[in-house]
Order: sequence, then structure tokens, then C-alpha cells
Amino acid sequence: MNTYKIAVIGGDGVGPEVCREGKKVLHKIAELDKGIGFEFEDFPWGCEYYLEHGEMMPQDALETLKKFDAVYLGAVGFPGVPDHISLWDILLKIRKGFDQYINLRPIKLLKGAPCPLAGVKREQIDMLVVRENSEGEYAGSGSWMYKGKINEVVIQDSVFSRLGCERVIRYAYELAKKEKKTLTSISKANALNYSMVFWDQIFEEVGREYPDVETYSYLVDAASMFFVKEPERFQIVVTSNLFGDILTDLGAAIAGGMGLAAGANINPERLYPSMFEPIHGSAPDIAGTGQANPLAAVWSVSQMMDFFGYEEWGKRILDAIEQLLTEKKSLPRDLGGSSTTEAVGNEIVRLLERA
Ligand code: NAD
Ligand code: IPM
Ligand code: MN
Repeated sequence: MNTYKIAVIGGDGVGPEVCREGKKVLHKIAELDKGIGFEFEDFPWGCEYYLEHGEMMPQDALETLKKFDAVYLGAVGFPGVPDHISLWDILLKIRKGFDQYINLRPIKLLKGAPCPLAGVKREQIDMLVVRENSEGEYAGSGSWMYKGKINEVVIQDSVFSRLGCERVIRYAYELAKKEKKTLTSISKANALNYSMVFWDQIFEEVGREYPDVETYSYLVDAASMFFVKEPERFQIVVTSNLFGDILTDLGAAIAGGMGLAAGANINPERLYPSMFEPIHGSAPDIAGTGQANPLAAVWSVSQMMDFFGYEEWGKRILDAIEQLLTEKKSLPRDLGGSSTTEAVGNEIVRLLERA
């Protein structure tokens, strides 16, 4: 039997609520598949921990997490702790510390999921965004000069290294080649005359190694428009850290909402654990009410199973989500139903068992 050690960081707000349901799915898989086992350890890190200890997680947290096969994260950030502190001290620290330079975010309209776009068919929204996840606009450096003075100036650096761009772009080309899909790079070289000129150049350079992959290149403003008007233009998308962040919330909106949007932070070399999470935040407006939709967190468990090499289980989880959406009996609030987070999780587990 293969046993996987999973570190669970529920985090803040709805984070622990949705993670609880994702864990149920993993427990059920272990029960149904005698070849797979999981060992969980929960870590109480987040904003409450910060208010008590003065840090979001202990100094040696990465050392502790290194021993695990994967990290399963809910969401981080809550009113009372400045977002730039909470996020840089957990989420971004883990993504960077474990060199999870690939962020895979599927934007796929499942059967039964609501779509705000008129007349769009399910097949028209089926893309995978490969977001650069280690540098770019999230370099985390800059300077703040003449604080409080009339000539105050703030500079936020963005860093695009050859290694950083090449590795994410090559990953996306490989994926497009393997899956026989088109590859679209989204950038903004007309205005960002260093970073995005460099990005586009590398997209073209690496592309010479993949003559059979059909490629497109869009400016991010136009791409946003096409996400809404003609989402079928996109299959595999590769883009920078910040553009990927923004485009995937837009993507979530056209593919069923934030409650259905999942993400995997991958270290492809497997030198460090990868991290799986819903892409939504801690949703302070509904935290503690039982209204949070756990399906994004459950979808990220499907990505975890794919990553461990159990694609069959990954697909079964997605099928269960799709079935729940089409049966319409146990829908959470954001999808027009009245089922609680827990009831939605229980129904997913029941559907998995039945499949
Ligand atoms: P958010 O994603 O938390 O919420 C945006 C809207 O979507 C809210 O109306 C919320 O109720 C709704 N929503 C989100 N998840 C939902 C779910 N599972 N089910 C139903 N509705 C859901 O974004 P925000 O309000 O901008 O951020 C809140 C906090 O979360 C901030 O501190 C922010 O920095 C943090 N954040 C963390 C992560 C993360 O940990 N990965 C991601 C995004 C935001
Ligand atoms: C996400 C989030 C994070 C990001 C924030 C919370 C730092 O929005 O995972 O999409 O910008 O990457
Ligand atoms: Mn985001």
C-alpha cells in the first residue's frame, strides 16, 4: 500500500470548513482503495495563530512541512491582520520556499454548473491556466521613499529571470504537446517594455523546440475580453504570476464561480511537497455560517490524486462533482441551493461510494 503524508493547513475563515470536506474525500478513497492510505497532520497556522504568537506559522514551518508528500491548504487572511503580512508569511512563503513554480488552475465548465455567459455550451469553456508561481510581479521587493512627504514614491519590483520564464513556458509546451492542445501565452509587451518583451521572446524561443504545438499570443487586456466573449479560443494558457491570478478569478466567474475554482501549486521535480488549495480566499463574509461551497477544495483533492499518479481517482472525484451539480439536490448557497458545507461534502462522498 502507498501511504501519503498530508499536511493540512486549514487557515482562516472558510478555509478549515472546506478542508474538512476535502479530507473526507481522501478518507473515503482510502476506504474504497486498499492500495492507498493517507496520514494527516493538522497545523493550526493562520491569523488566529498570529494574534497569539506574533507569527503566522513557526520559523521552522518549512522544515516541518518538508517531510510531507503534499500540503492541503484552505485559505489564509482575515480582517485584523494586514493581508500582506498574512499572505507573505504562509501562502507565498510556502509557494516560494518549496519552489512550487507551476500553478495549475483548470477553468472548466462542468455539466450543471451555472455560467453567466449567454448561450455558452459546456465544451466552450475547457482550459487549463499554467500560472508562473515563483517570481514576476510577486518578487516581493521594492522600495518606499520619502514616507509621508509630498515627494513620496513607491517602487514595486517585478523580476523575470530566464530560468523562471523558461521553465514555466516549457512546462506549458510539454503539456500542450502531450494533450494535443493549443497553447496561448498571455502577456503585455506593448506597455511592459522589459518584462513582457522578455517573456514573449522566451515564449517564441522555447516554441522552436515544439514545432507541432499550435500557439497564440494575446495581450492580457484583449485576452480578458475573449475569456468572456469567446472562451473557446483558449485551451492551455501560460501567463505570468499576477496576470494568472487575475485571469483565473475571471475564469472562475465564467465556470461556476469561486466555489468551484481549484488550484495546484506544483514543484515538478518533486524536491519539495506540492500544495493543493481552492483558489478562493477565506470569505470572511460567510465564514462560520455553513454556506461555504467546498467543491473547489474537493476539486483540488482531485488534482492531488492526479499528481500522485491516480488519474482514475482524480476523474472519479470530478465526476462526483459533476453529478452533484446535475442532480441539483445538494447544492450549496452560491450555486442556488441551501445545503450546508458539510451536507455538500457528505453528498460527494456518497456519490464517490456509488460510482
Ligand atoms: P474571497 O475569495 O475570500 O471572497 C470573494 C467572494 O467570493 C466573497 O463574496 C465570498 O463569500 C465568495 N466565496 C469565496 N469562496 C467561496 C466559497 N467556497 N463558497 C461560496 N462563496 C465563496 O476573496 P476576498 O474577499 O477578496 O479575500 C478575503 C481574504 O482571503 C483576504 O484576506 C485575502 O487576502 C484572502 N485570500 C486568500 C487566498 C488564499 O489563501 N489562497 C486567496 C484569495 C484571497
Ligand atoms: C490566489 C490568491 C493569492 C495570490 C493571494 C492571496 C496572495 O489571490 O491564490 O489566487 O495572489 O496568488
Ligand atoms: Mn487570486
